[in-house]
This record gives sequence, C-alpha cells and structure tokens, in this order.
Amino acid sequence: MNSLEEILEGEKATEELGRRLAPFLRPGDVVALYGELGSGKTCLVRGLARGLGVKEGEVSSPSFTLINEYAGPIPFYHIDCYRLQLREEIRELGLEDYLEGPGISAVEWAERIEDLPEVRLDIFFEILDEHRRRVVLKAGAEIAGRIGWGCRT
Ligand SMILES: Nc1ncnc2c1ncn2[C@@H]1O[C@H](COP(=O)(O)OP(=O)(O)OP(=O)(O)O)[C@@H](O)[C@H]1O
Ligand SMILES: [Mg+2]
Repeated sequence: MNSLEEILEGEKATEELGRRLAPFLRPGDVVALYGELGSGKTCLVRGLARGLGVKEGEVSSPSFTLINEYAGPIPFYHIDCYRLQLREEIRELGLEDYLEGPGISAVEWAERIEDLPEVRLDIFFEILDEHRRRVVLKAGAEIAGRIGWGCRT
C-alpha cells in the first residue's frame, strides 16, 4: 500500500487537492473518504467534481438524498453514508451499481460500507485545528502509480 500525507491550510487547499487528483482518475474508480464531522470531505469532493468537468452549480452535501449524480465527461457520483447507521440500510441502496459501474464515485463515511471495491483511493482526514487539516492518501500500486506520488509538483 502506497501512502502520502499532506497538510492542507484552508478550505481552498482541500478543494484544490480534489481538483489536482481528478485528472488521474479513470472510469470505475472509487475514492473513499474517512474522517470526523467537518473535516473537509465534501470540500474535496467539490474539487473532484470541478476537476472532472462537472458544470452544474454548487456541489452540495447529499446528506438528504444520499447520492448525487453529476453528468460530466465521466459520470460522477457523490455518495454520503452519514445518515446510514444500519448495514441493512446501506445494503438496500444497491450502491454496488454505482461503485462497480463505469462512473467515478466519491464516498463520504466510507467505513460504513461493508464491501467497498478493493481497488480504490482512500483519503483519511484529520482536523488539526480551525485552519488546518491533515490528509493521508492510500492506494494500491496501480492507482498510486497513475497519480504519480513521488513526482508531484
Ligand atoms: N484544509 C482546511 N482547513 C480549514 N478548514 C477547512 C479545510 N478544509 C475544509 N475546511 C472547512 O471545514 C468545514 C467542513 O468541511 P466539509 O463540509 O467539507 O466537511 P465534511 O468532512 O464533509 O463534514 P461532514 O462529515 O459533516 O459531511 C467547512 O467549513 C470547510 O470550509
Ligand atoms: Mg460532508
């Protein structure tokens, strides 16, 4: 497992990380986001959406709808499992249609999903203080190689 750590100062930096990662994602990829309430997951998803060419207005938290779908060059699904406490509730959603489909999915509270696809990019968020977040990115060789950790600017 390859991992990379970054300190993000301010929400723009979080969004920018999403925007930077987007060009390296491919159809079928899953980005799994972990971290406490308010740690910056939605912010990063907003950057991913922008980077993927989603033209629609504000990317908001899908807390009520659970899944937001965006039409871009590659379909983009923003899934938020915060409101799903029960594993049965998650199973009933049929998330595998999204996660194993040809679009790109970003999942908040990913730890609540039992059987996430194994090939994915995991991003762990930690609140350092009001102005800073620490993120750790983890991925297998294929995705990490594609993103080019180690030869970043
Ligand atoms: N790097 C950062 N430094 C400081 N504040 C940040 C940073 N990134 C995001 N924030 C701020 O943190 C707050 C919460 O962000 P966001 O909604 O993305 O969190 P979340 O992890 O999606 O929360 P939830 O679990 O409630 O969905 C926002 O006010 C956002 O501006
Ligand atoms: Mg959120």
